[in-house]
Amino acid sequence: MRISVIGGGYVGLTTGVCFAELGHEVLVVEKVPQKVELLKAGISPIYEPGLEELLRKNLNIRLSFTTDLKEGLEFSDVIFICVGTPQRPDGSADLSQVEEVARETARLMSSYKLLIEKSTVPINTHRLIKKTVQRYLRDKSIPYDVASNPEFLREGSAIYDFMNPDRIVVGVESERAKQVFEELYKDFKCPIIYTDPATAELIKHASNSFLAMKISFINMVADLCERAGADIKLVADGMGYDKRIGRAFLNAGIGYGGSCFPKDVKAFIRMAQDYGLHFGLLREVEKINQERPVKFVEKVKSVLWTVRNKRLALWGLSFKPNTDDIREAPSIRIVDLLLKEGAELFLYDPKAMENFKLLFPEGKGISYAPDLYSAVKNSSALLILTEWEEFTQADMAKVKELMELPIVIDGRNVFEPARMKELGFEYYCIGR
Ligand SMILES: NC(=O)c1ccc[n+]([C@@H]2O[C@H](COP(=O)([O-])OP(=O)(O)OC[C@H]3O[C@@H](n4cnc5c(N)ncnc54)[C@H](O)[C@@H]3O)[C@@H](O)[C@H]2O)c1
Repeated sequence: MRISVIGGGYVGLTTGVCFAELGHEVLVVEKVPQKVELLKAGISPIYEPGLEELLRKNLNIRLSFTTDLKEGLEFSDVIFICVGTPQRPDGSADLSQVEEVARETARLMSSYKLLIEKSTVPINTHRLIKKTVQRYLRDKSIPYDVASNPEFLREGSAIYDFMNPDRIVVGVESERAKQVFEELYKDFKCPIIYTDPATAELIKHASNSFLAMKISFINMVADLCERAGADIKLVADGMGYDKRIGRAFLNAGIGYGGSCFPKDVKAFIRMAQDYGLHFGLLREVEKINQERPVKFVEKVKSVLWTVRNKRLALWGLSFKPNTDDIREAPSIRIVDLLLKEGAELFLYDPKAMENFKLLFPEGKGISYAPDLYSAVKNSSALLILTEWEEFTQADMAKVKELMELPIVIDGRNVFEPARMKELGFEYYCIGR
C-alpha cells in the first residue's frame, strides 16, 4: 500500500520506518526542515534502538521524506496523523497541530482521503477533525473518512512494539475505511479490535492512565515497605505472578515521566471533568507521582545531612532507558531541587545529555561527564535516576575506588542491596 505519515517524531518516524520495512511505500511529511534534511541523509534525529538501521535500509526504496503536506496528500489516500498533542497549562491536550493538519488537508485534497489519528487525542476528537475538514473542504462532494488507530509503542522499544503489538485498536465508521485497515494489518497476528472512533480514543487514554495508576500504586506500597521493613521487589513479584495483576509496571522508583503518561493522565482527568465526572482516583495517581522526585531528594538530604557544595554524581537523565527523551523526566525536577540546595552535580547519561544540556547548560553547579566513571570521581554520593543497562553492568568496585564516599542512592532499584553491602557501599534504594 501507499501510506503518508504526517509528523516525523517518535511515533511518526517509527510508523513510517516500520510500514516501509513491512513492504509498503511510505512518505513521511515532517514540517521541521532540519529534521527532514537529516532523515534524507539516513540520520535519525532521535535515538531509538534499531530505528536508524531500518531508516537506512528502506530509504529511497520504499521510504522518503518531505516538508510538503501537498506532496504527502498526493502520494496516498491513507494519511496517518502522528503530530504532537502536548499539554496545555490547564491540563487539557493542545490539539492545534492536529487541527492544522485537518484544516490544511481539507484545503489541499482533491480526492478521497482516510485521515487516521495515531496521535493520542481526547475522546471525540474525530468529530472535531470531521467538522474541520467539512468546513475547509473546497469541493464538499469529495468523500473522506476519519478513523482512530491509537499507538501503544513504548519509547526505547518502539520498533519491536510496533512490529509486535499486543493488540491493534481501530475505530472506524465506514466499511471503506475498515477495508483499508484489514489490508494494512493483514499480516499481524495479534487481536485487532474494531470499534467506533470514540471507543478507540478512550481505549488509549484508559490504558495509559491504568498503567500510570499501577506505577503510583506500587510507589506507595514501596513507601510502606520502607517504613515497615518489607521488600518491594518481592512484594511486586508476589503480586505479579497473579495473572489478574501482572508484573509489568510494578517497579517502584522516582515516578513515571515521558511525553505520554504525565500529559495523558492530566488530559484524561480533564476530559472526565468536561463530561461532568470527578476522576479523583487519577488525581491521586498524579499527586503521588509528582511527589516522587521530592521524596527522593528528601532521602538524599537525609542520607547526606546537607548537599550544599557537595559533589554528587547523577547517572541517568532520560525518563527511561534506551531513549534520549527527557520530556517530563523525573531527573529534571531532581536536578532542579538539588541545584537549589547548592549541590555540585556531575551528570552522565548514555544518550540524553545533549537534550538535557538545552535545559541545564554546563556551569552553575552543572557539569557533564564523558562517561559513568568520570562522573563519580571524588563524589560524596552517586544517585541513580534511570535504569540503563550500562549502569547495571558497571564495575562497581572501580566506582567505589573513584568516589570520595561510597554512598549510592538508587532511585530505580538497579542493584541488589546485599551485593552492594558486600562491595562496601552504603546503599539506599526504594522500598527495600
Ligand atoms: N512518544 C511515545 O512514546 C508515544 C507513544 C504513543 C502515542 N504517542 C502520541 O503520539 C503523538 C506524537 O508523539 P511523538 O512523541 O511522536 O511527538 P514528537 O513531538 O516527537 O513528534 C511530533 C512531530 O510532528 C511534527 N509536526 C507537527 N505538526 C506538523 C505538521 N503540520 N506537519 C508535519 N509535521 C508536523 C513535529 O515537528 C514533530 O517532529 C502524541 O499525541 C503522543 O501522545 C506517543
